[in-house]
Amino acid sequence: MSFPQLADNIWYFECPVRFWGLRFQTRMTLVRLCNGGFFVHSPVALTDEVRMNLRILEYNNGPLHIICPNALHHIFAEPYLLEYPDSRLYVSPALPRRRADLKFDEILNDSPPDAWSHDLDQYIIRGNDYLQEVVFLHRSSRTLIVTDFIEHFTENSPGLGLATRLFARLFRMWGRPAPSPEFRLYSNPDQLRESIELLLSLDFNRIVMAHGDIIEASIHGTARELIREAYAHLW
Ligand SMILES: [Fe+2]
Repeated sequence: MSFPQLADNIWYFECPVRFWGLRFQTRMTLVRLCNGGFFVHSPVALTDEVRMNLRILEYNNGPLHIICPNALHHIFAEPYLLEYPDSRLYVSPALPRRRADLKFDEILNDSPPDAWSHDLDQYIIRGNDYLQEVVFLHRSSRTLIVTDFIEHFTENSPGLGLATRLFARLFRMWGRPAPSPEFRLYSNPDQLRESIELLLSLDFNRIVMAHGDIIEASIHGTARELIREAYAHLW
């Protein structure tokens, strides 16, 4: 299967994952960069299918910039570093204390490095020291790329186990965009609200996240309105 394409220069791919005994899918988002190479957000397992797709896309032979955007999304990163020698690893500020063994090149902050500053902006979401998630805006496709900040499980979401469906209903995460349990449970509401207000001032009309259905503007509202609704408890 080819990587599904969202717009010019942006693709995604999913693989199954298990967390706390729950079965669901996790999504990697790839952006082809003006300066060459690819931005690889929250990598999935490096399978032959992924290798083949990277070969097809990587005609300009630039490096892979591998992103571990929060404290939890790191488990599939290392094989890429081993297999693609030019690749570089960028991590959330929360990751070094959680994975002291992981050798990385840079800690992400609010300023994009030269490698992708022509294509993407980035913002640390404040108020959640546990995840310290960094989100990205791909300017040309007006796509906000997030990890666990928003999840969106519905009947259309592939690969959900029965327990995941029950869990999502229990946490009022079923059928609508919602904060992950980590964002719901471990956040400082004032700091988080400030960060979200900043995000809501950005120009995007699509949200691609690690878990669940990609959000496009719909009859239910614009992508910005859906974020506001997901975090309505903060206002
Ligand atoms: Fe996640």
